[in-house]
Amino acid sequence: MGPLAAAQLLALISLTVALDNGLLKTPPMGWMAWERFRCDVDCKDDPKNCISEVLFRDIADRLAEDGWKELGYEYVIIDDCWMSMQRDEHGRLQPEPSRFPGGIAKLARYIHDRELKLGIYADMGTHTCMGFPGTTLDKIEIDAQTFASWGVDYLKFDGCSSNPVEQMLGYPLMSKALNATGRPIAYSCSWPVYVGGLPPNVNYSLLGDICHLWRNYNDIQDSWDSVQDIIEWYSNNQDYLQPAAGPGRWNDPDMLIIGNFGLSVDQARSQMALWAIMAAPLIMSNDLRNLGNSARTILQNKVAIAINQDPLGIQGRRLLTEKTHIEVYWRPLSRSASAIVFLSRRTDMPYLYRTSLAKLNYDAGNYEAYDVFNGLTVTGLNATTEFTFSINPSGVVMWYVYPEQQSKQTEKSHYQHEKASHHTVL
Ligand code: GLA
Repeated sequence: MGPLAAAQLLALISLTVALDNGLLKTPPMGWMAWERFRCDVDCKDDPKNCISEVLFRDIADRLAEDGWKELGYEYVIIDDCWMSMQRDEHGRLQPEPSRFPGGIAKLARYIHDRELKLGIYADMGTHTCMGFPGTTLDKIEIDAQTFASWGVDYLKFDGCSSNPVEQMLGYPLMSKALNATGRPIAYSCSWPVYVGGLPPNVNYSLLGDICHLWRNYNDIQDSWDSVQDIIEWYSNNQDYLQPAAGPGRWNDPDMLIIGNFGLSVDQARSQMALWAIMAAPLIMSNDLRNLGNSARTILQNKVAIAINQDPLGIQGRRLLTEKTHIEVYWRPLSRSASAIVFLSRRTDMPYLYRTSLAKLNYDAGNYEAYDVFNGLTVTGLNATTEFTFSINPSGVVMWYVYPEQQSKQTEKSHYQHEKASHHTVL
C-alpha cells in the first residue's frame, strides 16, 4: 500500500475510533518496571529483581501498604520482556511460564484485590525493542482481546520494528480494538517517538483522539543530564506540545526516576516539580521495597501531586530563561490558583533570585503562596511586591499561588497541608 492510500484509510478509521472511555481525566499515576529493572530475566541469580510475577506482586504490596494508593499511585505497569518467545497455539501472546507461572490473569486479580490497576506492554511491529514477539497489524485485534480477557487496565504500545506507514495504521487500529473489547483500557502510544516527536510528522489532534497519553521523546535514564535534556526538549517545543495536552490526552516525558541512584535530593525535587508543571504522568520506576526517606517524601508530596492532578488539566509552560541560568515555569490551575517553579540550572552555589508576581504576568491584587517543598506560606504578597529567595544549584523553589481572599475558606481544606503552615510576612 502506498502512503497516500494509507493516509486515506487512516482518515476513514479515525472517524470511527475516538477513544472516549472517560479514562485519565487527570494524568495517570503509578509504577512501571522499565527504567529501574530493564530486561533483567535472570531469575536464577537475581530472583527479587528479575521481570517476574514476584516483582509485580511485591510492588503492588508496597503501593497498597505504604500510602501510595491513597495518594493516587494506582497503576502497576509491566514493561518489555514479560513474554514468551512464542505465541500459544491460538496465536495469542503468553507470558514466559518460568517467570510468570500463575499467568497474567491471576496477577491481575492479585493487583485488583488491592484496588490497584494492571498495565502491560506490547509493541506495534514485528518485535518489541528487546526482541520479544511484536504485534503486527494482523495481530492487533487478538492481542487487544487477550489483554482485555486477562483484566488488563492499561496498555503501553511501543513502536520498535515497524515503519511509519505501519505505525499510521496500527496505532489507530489498536485504539479501535481496545474500544471494541468493551473493557476500559488506558492507551499509551509511543508512536510520536518513532517519527521525531513533532509536527508535521506527528498529528497531535489525531493522537489525542486515539490515545490517552503518548511518549514524545527519548527514554529517561538514571541521571540529572537525562532529566535536564528532557525538560529542555519539552520546553523548547512547548508551542507544539503544550496545546496538545488536556483531560484524557497527555504528553509523557517518561518515568520518575526519584529514589534511584542518579539524582541528588534537589534534583529529585526538580523532577517532581517539573513533572507537576508539565501535567506529566507520575509513573515511578524505582524499587519501592528499598526507598530512602527523602525520595518517599518528595514522591508523596500532596501539594505537588495536587498540582499535577489539577482538574483543568492545562499543561504548564516555561515563561522565562534568564541569562543567570534561572528558569521560570508556570501552570494555571483551577479556582484561580497557579503554580510557579523557579529552576536553577547553575552549578555553583545557591542563587538569590529577585522578582515579583507582576513580572510573571500576574494581575494586580493580593496573593498568598505556599512553598511546596518547605511547607511555608508566604502572605501579604501584592503583585507588585518584589521578593528575593535562594534557589539551590539544580534545584527548584515551587510555589502554589492563590488570590488572598480565597485563602481562608477553600484552599486550606482542599490542599491538606502536611504540616501546619508557618507564616512568613514579607
Ligand atoms: C523503548 C521504550 C522504553 C521501554 C523499552 C523496552 O525503548 O521507549 O520505555 O519500554 O523500549 O524495551
